[in-house]
Amino acid sequence: MLSKLAIVSSVFALALPLQAVVAAETTTITIDAAKTGAKIDRNLFGQFAEHLGHGIYEGIWVGPDSPIPNVRGIRKDVVAALKALKVPNVRWPGGCFADYYHWRKGIGKQRQVTVNTDWGGVTEPNTFGTHEFMDFAGQIGAAAYLSVNIGSGTPQEAAEWLEYLTTAQQTTLAKERAANGHPAPYSVPYLGLGNESWDCGGNMTAANYVQQMKTYSRFVQNYNPQQQDGNKMLKIAVGPGGDGKRWTDWTETVMKAYKEELTWSWELQGLSLHNYTVIDWKAKHASVGFGEKEYAEILNETLKMEGLITTHSAIMDKYDPDRKIALAVDEWGGWYSPYPKDSNPGFLMQQNSLRDAILAALNINIFVRHADRVRMANIAQMINVLQAMILTDKEKMVLTPTYYLFKLYLPFQDAVSVPVSLAAGYYTMDSQKFKLPRLDAIAARGADGKLWIAVTNVDPNRSAEVELAVSGLNARTVSGETMTAAKVDSINTFESPNTVAPKKITGSVSNGKVLLTLEPKSVTVVSVE
Ligand code: AHR
Repeated sequence: MLSKLAIVSSVFALALPLQAVVAAETTTITIDAAKTGAKIDRNLFGQFAEHLGHGIYEGIWVGPDSPIPNVRGIRKDVVAALKALKVPNVRWPGGCFADYYHWRKGIGKQRQVTVNTDWGGVTEPNTFGTHEFMDFAGQIGAAAYLSVNIGSGTPQEAAEWLEYLTTAQQTTLAKERAANGHPAPYSVPYLGLGNESWDCGGNMTAANYVQQMKTYSRFVQNYNPQQQDGNKMLKIAVGPGGDGKRWTDWTETVMKAYKEELTWSWELQGLSLHNYTVIDWKAKHASVGFGEKEYAEILNETLKMEGLITTHSAIMDKYDPDRKIALAVDEWGGWYSPYPKDSNPGFLMQQNSLRDAILAALNINIFVRHADRVRMANIAQMINVLQAMILTDKEKMVLTPTYYLFKLYLPFQDAVSVPVSLAAGYYTMDSQKFKLPRLDAIAARGADGKLWIAVTNVDPNRSAEVELAVSGLNARTVSGETMTAAKVDSINTFESPNTVAPKKITGSVSNGKVLLTLEPKSVTVVSVE
């Protein structure tokens, strides 16, 4: 929508140089603060930590004897950084790793050394096991989201793991837990019933998976329904992994079983969806050293998340019109070629640029617009793997642009969404091959009572003059932060850790009108009071 100023500008457009016309355009973002939408579950900001590359070992776990400052073997610097993000939940131990993880190898004094066959073929010492993970989650203040092994485990093994973790009664397994240092039961509010069972989790057909899922759901219980935080354990089934009939059939099969076969003896509260931003799995894009074309290409690709969620939500609506089952996008993010180039390709190491922060903003905005169905999401992954929050190298640590994006979005955790409308036209690239909405925005009433607005300016070349037209509120002040950088592929390094980081933005308010100038390729989060 163009303001008066822009209309005046367009009258003179023929006489003025293009720059002057562009600068005069104002986009009105209409926010109806009197109306509310769905709650934005804080679990949309969940994380994923798999036994993969340097995600766990080095990234989280350095061991109690390490010269790197740690608490019971867990890095202090990483814990402090993650605590500041208020991470709601961490998914562990995988990913593909979960389906050949045998929990008993990772408890007690004698840990069994195994091979991580999926990820680089390296030795898995199992020194980071159940107690260490629960300790880590506790240190950062996150809830545990465990994935049980359906692919190569048994229902009994998984049921015993949950008994070991959660029972408050003096069973043999509870006594073993106490002997291993934790007499009190742990809280496990989220449980994944397998991972990608259509592929690395066991190459199952949907029908085969449904049978397994029902069995596991029946026997793998939370043994402590009175757990201290009052959480019931929510069970999340394996869902689709992409676009197309194979995946819509999968969702149909699981949801049909939920609708037609659900009995007292098994239950389900969530369905997962995995979707990575990759254009060609055989020749992945680079995470650094790219230009505007690759920027546009990747962001264009990531917007496909919208269609996927819409498609699978529609199927879920057929079987669950009351939206009791959450769609949990528990693996998402950009997946690029290995960086450094000579790193073990099985370690999935990559850099993280301004483009990733914008990619994250666009995805989270999509989740927020579907918040009545999408109530959990876990970016892949937390540290040193794929689109990470944090990169480490021995004692060094750097926070990525994606970390800062999650920090900027903190006010949206458990906020209530507020309707937003705007029409800012498009940013196009490569002779219109890539055509993306130029601006993207969400708004919400925060848990702090304030009205929060996030606006992404996707266009890497044009700043945007924006008017926030807020009805239902007499706007007097605006304050917040914005994040951009010199280049679309700007990164933070150990030597220059603040190249991409938020800075204060100043806007103006006059007669209730809020005006902001958004830099090209930026994400801005402000509160209006
Ligand atoms: O995140 C890396 C891998 O991607 C996970 O282990 C798997 O679930 C997915 O294919």
